[in-house]
Amino acid sequence: MAIGGYNQLPLISLDTQLGTEAYKFQSARAALYAYLSATKIKTLYVPNYICDSIFPALKSLTVEVKFYSVNEQLLPVNCPELTEKSDSRILLVNYFGLLNEQIKMLTAVKPELFIVDNSQALFCEHIEGTTSIYSPRKFLGIPDGGLLRTEIKINMPEARYDASENVGHLLLRAAGDVQAGYARFLDAEQMLECFIPKKISVISAHLIKCADLNTIKEKRRRNYKILYNKFRTLNQLQLPINDHVPLCYPLKLELNVTSICRELIDNAIYLPRYWSSQHSGSVGKGMFENTLFLPVDERISTTELLQLVKLIRTKL
Ligand SMILES: Cc1ncc(COP(=O)(O)O)c(C=O)c1O
Repeated sequence: MAIGGYNQLPLISLDTQLGTEAYKFQSARAALYAYLSATKIKTLYVPNYICDSIFPALKSLTVEVKFYSVNEQLLPVNCPELTEKSDSRILLVNYFGLLNEQIKMLTAVKPELFIVDNSQALFCEHIEGTTSIYSPRKFLGIPDGGLLRTEIKINMPEARYDASENVGHLLLRAAGDVQAGYARFLDAEQMLECFIPKKISVISAHLIKCADLNTIKEKRRRNYKILYNKFRTLNQLQLPINDHVPLCYPLKLELNVTSICRELIDNAIYLPRYWSSQHSGSVGKGMFENTLFLPVDERISTTELLQLVKLIRTKL
């Protein structure tokens, strides 16, 4: 303990625990790298709808990538058949944190062959026997973080990620300076392109302790339900909430959403696009081109959400 001296942000620790049994790195891709290098996996089956950010790590480990197709429900068309002794693994993505049950079923028989990518599903429980990765900064205001749950023994790196230069965007956003924060956010994300595993930063580890996870979960679920009910008849993608804590509400339309996204920016509404990639198959391309990924996070009030619904309706 230190007493006196320069001051600090008034953050109150709630002693929140996240991933107590997980290995904790600076990013999900670093967590994936740590697992693949420890197990010397040679081939990874990857869905043809995924974020490109994982590929540099795979390339550097000379892991062969084999793509499999996903259907309109975002599930594997044909799950590769692997034997238990295989040096291959199948990566299953829990898209938008809305596929918990389906992933449980797919992994039920031979869990050891699967890596569940819960980067978009922070609150999806790890399935015993599988390996899973998480990216908590997509749900929490933290600069870095990547969790790995696996039965394999992982030797943690000595080096710790230094996020001290990469917290500006979180402070600027909290202070309402969204524009200045966005440039810093991009810089912070770029810093995470280095996938060589390091321990999670002390800053993120502390910020996690201060996070009110129950409120975050409740509000995400509440917001999702509102959007689900409002867009029920319009949405080409029906993903019910069940017990999920979603990343966002994917609203799949029968039109290209690029111009709507641009117009929303003029109203200070910033939607992510998941994902533009040369590896995407037809379903992935359709998801990118035709889907609005609406926010459901705890910062949004019901009034704001209803305004957003109204605004989107005017553009359809
Ligand atoms: C499905 C999926 N997997 C992996 C990642 C990589 O996560 P991180 O940025 O924490 O490395 C992402 C990031 O967007 C993702 O969406």
